[in-house]
Amino acid sequence: MAIDGPAGAGKSTIARSLAERLGFTYIDTGAMYRAVALWALRQKLDPGDRHRMEQLALASEIELSPGRIRLNGEDVTEAIRVPEVSSAASKIAVIPGVRRAMVAKQRAIGERASVVMEGRDIGTVVFPDADVKIFLDAGSAERVRRRLLEMRAKGETVSETTLAEQMEERDRRDSTRADAPLAQAPDALYLDSTSMSIDEVVEAALRIVRTRITNGKEFR
Ligand code: DC
Repeated sequence: MAIDGPAGAGKSTIARSLAERLGFTYIDTGAMYRAVALWALRQKLDPGDRHRMEQLALASEIELSPGRIRLNGEDVTEAIRVPEVSSAASKIAVIPGVRRAMVAKQRAIGERASVVMEGRDIGTVVFPDADVKIFLDAGSAERVRRRLLEMRAKGETVSETTLAEQMEERDRRDSTRADAPLAQAPDALYLDSTSMSIDEVVEAALRIVRTRITNGKEFR
């Protein structure tokens, strides 16, 4: 099952909840790009250096476990959630070699288990044959509001204007890059969550799941 959409649309919340309801494994692919970006920043490397970034992506050992992510053995769950990493992740995500490495890891995970995978290119590139695809969207003001609440809940101080600018820049880069830009797959269900509650979105997604599942068919 594939969930794509821009930053702050509610993908993580919805994907996590769906995975729990379905007994599937939840995979946050953005966290994988973030982990490679964190590694680059720590080594003071330029996220625009295509060759080095591809090397890092290939060499990175990324382990996802419920709610946690490890990079080369180190738990980086909190470290990847800072604004500098968000921006660097979006920058390295334009590099085809980086995407190739991440997509290979994501497909390997999807081969082993039934997954709810969220990102930007899951329904278009990673699993074009996914049984259920959802493109989750929300108005930009609402997406900024949600991200702001999330950050403030973690005790981070950030101005709304700065955050709005950062999110806009990131969404622009993610949607306009040449390789696997954020896009709705033709067979994805478009859900605008602007004025929907989490439960309403989850229920809408589950209705799709129920209509798409046929007896005896393996679901992914
Ligand atoms: O979902 P997120 O905000 O944690 O993702 C961080 C960045 O990684 C995002 O700006 C774009 C990139 N990304 C991507 O290009 N493809 C994915 N499947 C997931 C994330």
